[in-house]
Amino acid sequence: MPNQYRWGVHRLSELLGPLVERGLASVILFGVPTLKKKDDVGTLADDVDGPVIQAIRKIRDLFPTLYVAADVCLCEYTSHGHCGILHEDGSINNTLSIERLKDVAVAYAKAGAHCVAPSDMMDGRIASIRRGLDAAGLAGRVTLMAYSAKFASAMYGPFREAVDSAPAFGDRRCYQLPPHARGMARRAIVRDAQEGADILMVKPAGPYLDILADARELVPDYPRACYQVSGEYAVLHAAANAGVGDLRALVEESVTSMLRAGATLILTYFTPDLLTWLDTPHGP
Ligand code: PBG
Ligand code: ZN
Repeated sequence: MPNQYRWGVHRLSELLGPLVERGLASVILFGVPTLKKKDDVGTLADDVDGPVIQAIRKIRDLFPTLYVAADVCLCEYTSHGHCGILHEDGSINNTLSIERLKDVAVAYAKAGAHCVAPSDMMDGRIASIRRGLDAAGLAGRVTLMAYSAKFASAMYGPFREAVDSAPAFGDRRCYQLPPHARGMARRAIVRDAQEGADILMVKPAGPYLDILADARELVPDYPRACYQVSGEYAVLHAAANAGVGDLRALVEESVTSMLRAGATLILTYFTPDLLTWLDTPHGP
């Protein structure tokens, strides 16, 4: 991914300082454990010495105005690379998975995350995390952003390579949505709202604008996020490099489409570029 790197906790000030100066208001964290060995339950996800908890504390300390979200999943931390805990036969153990994801979310919230964002797609995890936050007395302090309509997309490749989270066997199609499944996506959005999510997300963004428009109709009174994923970022860069069009114009058109379709919040790797472009008038 052009201009995208894994950043050590000790270099967050160097990374974020200039961006905050240019108006960056929020970040979302993904952990890449490099020092300790992964296991089958993702113990490293809420390791107090691990990258996410350390980064939450550091960022809250360094940049008191910044809104800090943390992605909650197990795939970056499990030896098998799946987003949940598995039965012996390799299928998902949903009960154990949503219990573990709840513990991880609560640990991030306790460390100071303003928002926890489960991206695993296990059944019932929003209700489980909501109960966990309530029990920890954190319900009123923490936003729960649900990756609700998350599709089993071919566009996650660069991300999985960067965070080393590709499944060791099988794929994610038994928990992520099939790309043609509009009805399941609509049900997932409503279900997550009913389970207590504060923000509903559609992911990827560009190829699923119809689902975003559905979300605007289904949950008009909720903030609606979309995630322009690693493959979308890579595709737009590749297009610009191949002479298809100007990168800024391609990116601005892509995010404008997301807003038009109903997004009120966009997660994108183009944020540093957009901070500059928003302040720079278009040329003749
Ligand atoms: C982990 C997770 C993924 C992404 C965000 N959280 C990958 C996946 O589900 O395989 C994808 C992000 C991107 O491609 O930019 N559950
Ligand atoms: Zn995952």
